[in-house]
Amino acid sequence: MDSLEVHTKEFWDERSKKWVNNFESEESRQENERRYQYVDEFLTTQGLYNRDSEILDIGCGPGMFITRFAQKAKKVTGLDISEKMLDYAKLNTEKNGLTNVGFINMPWQDIVLKDYGLEKAFDLVFASLCPGISSEDSLLKMSLASRGWCFTCSFVRKFSSLKNMVYQHILGVPFDADWGQESLGRSVNFLLKSGYYPYISYYDTSAQRAWEVNAKTAARFAGHLGSIKDEDHNIKKYSDAVLSYLQSIAVDNKITEKTEAKIAFLYWRSS
Ligand SMILES: C[S@@+](CC[C@H](N)C(=O)[O-])C[C@H]1O[C@@H](n2cnc3c(N)ncnc32)[C@H](O)[C@@H]1O
Repeated sequence: MDSLEVHTKEFWDERSKKWVNNFESEESRQENERRYQYVDEFLTTQGLYNRDSEILDIGCGPGMFITRFAQKAKKVTGLDISEKMLDYAKLNTEKNGLTNVGFINMPWQDIVLKDYGLEKAFDLVFASLCPGISSEDSLLKMSLASRGWCFTCSFVRKFSSLKNMVYQHILGVPFDADWGQESLGRSVNFLLKSGYYPYISYYDTSAQRAWEVNAKTAARFAGHLGSIKDEDHNIKKYSDAVLSYLQSIAVDNKITEKTEAKIAFLYWRSS
């Protein structure tokens, strides 16, 4: 199934609360904070934006990058498919007293740059973990909106020891942690063929976490047994089996998860 068919406005409106309430734990919140900080420092040290830059943030979510960029750049526009995400982003910028920000509620694939006066309108066109940047057209549109740099990043590895064990036990197959790699290869190929010279860099993280074995933890891992769009169905179908499995491997009713992730930064000059 095409990622755009799964990643609809309704899907992301529904997920907005989870994003704003710091995901599911303090660990996830800190992990995201480190990522925001690292990406922002990377952009400034590589010279992708400065005090005079106008920036477009595609798939801006609740505005965690916007608030950082707006404090150090001339103007930032956040674009998102989800109205609810943008409501949070607006609150976030107001709370920080930022006035050099604007918002567009649109799916990236639907926006006609010319109609919005957005051709070559930005010094940096930025997209972090945005499912709307999944096709050749979406990359080309980033280049057309930029008069300087484009930057996009996405997972090329997302491994979880526990998810893998649950997958093996329930579905009989390992979890494919490297699903993002093909898409990165296609994007690099496409940009080269289109006359751009993309750079790649990687951001690595690893963590360890102990989970209490209970119905909530079982539902979390059950939900991941299949497509993200079928999460509720997967929870109903697999929760009981996952709970018994976790109980069988738990020590003092706890299980340990080790995770490793790799995010690829793909960035190029549009002119
Ligand atoms: C995984 S979140 C990433 C949020 C933020 N950029 C970050 O790195 O933490 C993906 C965001 O992209 C938005 N999104 C998904 N599909 C989109 C599309 N086709 N056009 C614009 N935004 C989209 C979602 O609403 C969500 O806010």
